[in-house]
Amino acid sequence: MEAKEAKRKVILTGDRPTGKLHLGHYVGSLRRRVQLQNSGKYDEINILVADDQALTDNWDNPKKIRDNIIEVTLDYLSVGIDPDRTNICIQSGIPALHALTFYYMNLVTTQRLSRNPTVKNEMTLRGYSDEEGVNDNVEGLPAGFFTYPVSQAADITAFKATTVPAGEDQEPMLEQTREICRKFNSTYQCDVLVEPEILLPENETQRRLPGIDGKAKMSKSLGNCIYLSDDPKTVKQKVMSMYTDPEHLNISDPGHVEGNMVFTYLDAFSREDQFAAYLPDYQNLDEMKEHYRKGGLGDVKCKKFLIKVMEEMLTPIRAERAKWENNISDVYDILCAGTAKARETTGRTLDEVRHAMMIDYFDDRDRMISDWEEWIHR
Ligand code: TRP
Repeated sequence: MEAKEAKRKVILTGDRPTGKLHLGHYVGSLRRRVQLQNSGKYDEINILVADDQALTDNWDNPKKIRDNIIEVTLDYLSVGIDPDRTNICIQSGIPALHALTFYYMNLVTTQRLSRNPTVKNEMTLRGYSDEEGVNDNVEGLPAGFFTYPVSQAADITAFKATTVPAGEDQEPMLEQTREICRKFNSTYQCDVLVEPEILLPENETQRRLPGIDGKAKMSKSLGNCIYLSDDPKTVKQKVMSMYTDPEHLNISDPGHVEGNMVFTYLDAFSREDQFAAYLPDYQNLDEMKEHYRKGGLGDVKCKKFLIKVMEEMLTPIRAERAKWENNISDVYDILCAGTAKARETTGRTLDEVRHAMMIDYFDDRDRMISDWEEWIHR
């Protein structure tokens, strides 16, 4: 027997195009995607701009989604996603995803969907369910929103993704995807679908970068973000307004670095060599923190250093963005070619799925005619 071909390593990630991307996205996923892309360890990498999924929650505002497709794509390109190595595609332009979603619906119960913790959470947030998860307003619950995990399973399996880099909140989606894979393969006696693994963020900062207000996760709805596309003046204003230590009133007072956003961001973004360049009073962040704790180091000085650190990171990203912003036609062509390529990849999976489900009526004329003849004249 021939040795089984080594399993292809395929990445699929995706984002809902509902707003431009911020530093939370950068530390949580974008930076990682660029590393994975440059590692050369994967046979295929895809990023899906999940506009259909975004529409399950914004069906009445398609213009918002349309505008943010270009924002998000510019964000990808500006941080170093290279369209020659990473395929960027738009969900709505890939019909196989819709077909697969429809078939997978048969393999999932409504009860199982309502137990999906991420969906439960989102239902509570949108007032379709109370805190206990007891559905008290299911009448108002759109079926598209309720079933989006099935569509996400279609996204992942259509590309035969083995690895899905994503946050913890996506784990329930991956679990459901694996269940659908198993159910499909066992029901139709095949091994067409590939079970994916999640690739989680490596540390706490990557998991959850707090907003500049220090209150919660950086998020557009809370208005506490620094965007990758913010200009230097805006970044400066935002850093200057950052939440630090409310008890650190005078420079001479001892201060707290825990819960102090300036230090949280320095932890996430600064490098040791930046001290020599911008803040030679200290060798490294530990020394700086030590002084802040003891008293005698003022917030403004810390913030000025953080601005330098941010600018060092954001300047090349902005420059790259500006380049692409002046070449929207190139960005269009990237999306168009990426989506066409995704149609091919996912189309092959759909063919295999249809074959396994015995609904591939028009793939082999002679076989179909003889099957039907045999049946009718049995
Ligand atoms: N649900 C993801 C989010 O809200 C977006 C997404 C859609 C996705 N399809 C995907 C992520 C497939 C990973 C794989 O961010």
